Amino acid sequence: NGLITIDPGYKNTGSCESAITFLDGEKGVLRYRGYPIEQLAEKADFLEVAYALIFGDLPTKQQLDKFHADIKSKAILDDDVKKILDAFPKSAHPMGVLSSLTSALTAFNPSSVNVDSEEEMYNAIVKIMGKFPIIVAWTMRKKQGLPLTYSTNSLGYVENIMKMMFQSPNEDYVVNPIIRDALDKLLILHADHEQNCSTSTVRIVGSSHAGLFASLSAGISALWGPLHGGANQAVLEMLEAIKQDGGDTKKYMAKAKDKNDPFRLMGFGHRVYKNFDPRAKIIKKAADEVLNDLGVNDPILDIARSLEAEALKDPYFVDRKLYPNVDFYSGIIYRAMGIPVEMFTVMFAMGRLPGWIAQWKEMRLNKEPIGRPRQIYTGENERNFKTIDNR
Ligand code: CMC
Repeated sequence: NGLITIDPGYKNTGSCESAITFLDGEKGVLRYRGYPIEQLAEKADFLEVAYALIFGDLPTKQQLDKFHADIKSKAILDDDVKKILDAFPKSAHPMGVLSSLTSALTAFNPSSVNVDSEEEMYNAIVKIMGKFPIIVAWTMRKKQGLPLTYSTNSLGYVENIMKMMFQSPNEDYVVNPIIRDALDKLLILHADHEQNCSTSTVRIVGSSHAGLFASLSAGISALWGPLHGGANQAVLEMLEAIKQDGGDTKKYMAKAKDKNDPFRLMGFGHRVYKNFDPRAKIIKKAADEVLNDLGVNDPILDIARSLEAEALKDPYFVDRKLYPNVDFYSGIIYRAMGIPVEMFTVMFAMGRLPGWIAQWKEMRLNKEPIGRPRQIYTGENERNFKTIDNR
């Protein structure tokens, strides 16, 4: 026991070497495979970023076309998956449904479990890249009581997601380029973030050689919590509550600072970024543009702006280096797109999918040992068993 040091929350413990994502929390730098997040958000599309994360570099046109064609060939779900979806109550949280259905895919694709060669890995990867958007769309349509939709091969990856999510029954779907560009950007900004809670979960579950889909399902459950991806839903609910309460941001700032009040300013603070979150900067600008382009006037954007302005000059937040994170403004954009609040974390999962896959693949190819932290035991010393009537 004397040799073990405890590091609660692994604040200073590295778990692996990784060549995927570089993050400098002091300087607010984020790069995927060496490419600055600002350039990717501005110029790339989500599928090419996914390719870069998973395979190491941006694809040529030919590589991207092949990757997309392979994904499209797997973009179908077994009819029995629908029966599982049907069995959930309408009130079920979409993240629970997403995690369950992702895990259930293992049953319908048993060959995706024991994957050792790169070819077997590739097959599992294109399968989940093809099937996941359908599950995402179905969780939303189930919630809304809408008929289920299917993949359209002629569309781009993100356009296909949009069509499956937003198509009204008996109507042709026309892709709105403003929404497509904004969604592309959001998915790219969420695509990887090195060893965060859900990614570490995917790596540690995968390290037991559980299959890719089971590992992803565990990652989805980790992402669900409000301290992690669930913060985007929590932010919007908080902003809405402040609006209902007359827009008194000062009152909520005081609550956030009160150590006897469990309330936290959701969408603020980050384990690694101690200066600013570069994703939040891009998303804040995008929120302004998207709402403007769509002609949406959402009063909660003003509430968000004034909360941010107050926090940035408040000693409590300044001393603790608490800044808006990726989740602070993203929900405002999702809402402007017509996505229900309970779906926000599902959208985060959609974006994070290639990052999780890349990290799982790297962990397997590096032949990392099973993840197995130690502990310092603080329980009883040895004692003798007592029969039930002697306790
Ligand atoms: N509101 C008020 N106080 C806060 C907040 C906040 N949002 N975040 C941190 N603090 C305080 C905290 O109480 C502590 O104060 P003290 O030193 O007096 O005890 C100090 O700041 C350090 O916080 P911590 O909880 O020890 O820091 P952490 O690195 O363990 O947690 C965090 C990071 C992101 C979980 C936390 O900042 C938080 O709960 N933020 C709100 C939830 C949120 O927005 N999560 C999304 C994170 S980014 C996307 C993602 O990961 O999915």
